Amino acid sequence: MSEFEGMKIGYAFCGSFCTFEKSIVELEKLVKDGAIVTPIMSFTAFDTNTRFGKASDINKRIEDICKNKIISTIEGAEPIGPQKMFDILIVAPCTGNTVAKLAAGIIDTPVTMAVKSHIRNAKPVVLAIATNDALAGSAKNIGMLLNYRNFYFVPYGQDNFNAKPNSLVADFSLLGDTVLLAAKGKQIQPLLL
Ligand SMILES: Cc1cc2nc3c(=O)[nH]c(=O)nc-3n(C[C@H](O)[C@H](O)[C@H](O)COP(=O)(O)O)c2cc1C
Repeated sequence: MSEFEGMKIGYAFCGSFCTFEKSIVELEKLVKDGAIVTPIMSFTAFDTNTRFGKASDINKRIEDICKNKIISTIEGAEPIGPQKMFDILIVAPCTGNTVAKLAAGIIDTPVTMAVKSHIRNAKPVVLAIATNDALAGSAKNIGMLLNYRNFYFVPYGQDNFNAKPNSLVADFSLLGDTVLLAAKGKQIQPLLL
């Protein structure tokens, strides 16, 4: 039996549209392995049409995979903590914007509300970061979250150091392994790729 069988997972998307495809591949694996997954999206992720796809098409695809409606409002995310909805909450992709808000305690999107509500029960949150300023403006925010209890990171590395010297992106293929260890209170290593 898969270790994911019956695991209650919140799976949140932020607006790093170029990484959606890689994240959806991992989401599909979790569902196939028996996890019960509720999708969550930031306002930006839920509403924005980009060259990477039409929002309504992507949203339908995610709902079809999870067989669950997307939580796309702050009030929809609020019950996550009180109802102990998830064993673990994944934010994949996690933008520089959402990292900054989490580090600062700013809760004004469905994803930041989901994290706040879930973490009040001292349960794990897994972040798969993807941001072009990770080694610049976002570095301090990532550093703060590295130092917070209950936050775990999918290992990340520079994706294109010539063209984007400050960019970091998580290796999404390590998401499942990161989740299994985070569920036991451990950060997967090595963190830096
Ligand atoms: C096409 C496109 C791609 C983007 N890719 C990223 C990205 O990879 N990482 C990132 O941090 N922000 C990216 N952004 C910017 C975020 O979408 C923006 O900061 C937004 O406010 C994030 O909101 P959220 O964190 O609530 O999802 C992108 C925006 C667009 C339109």
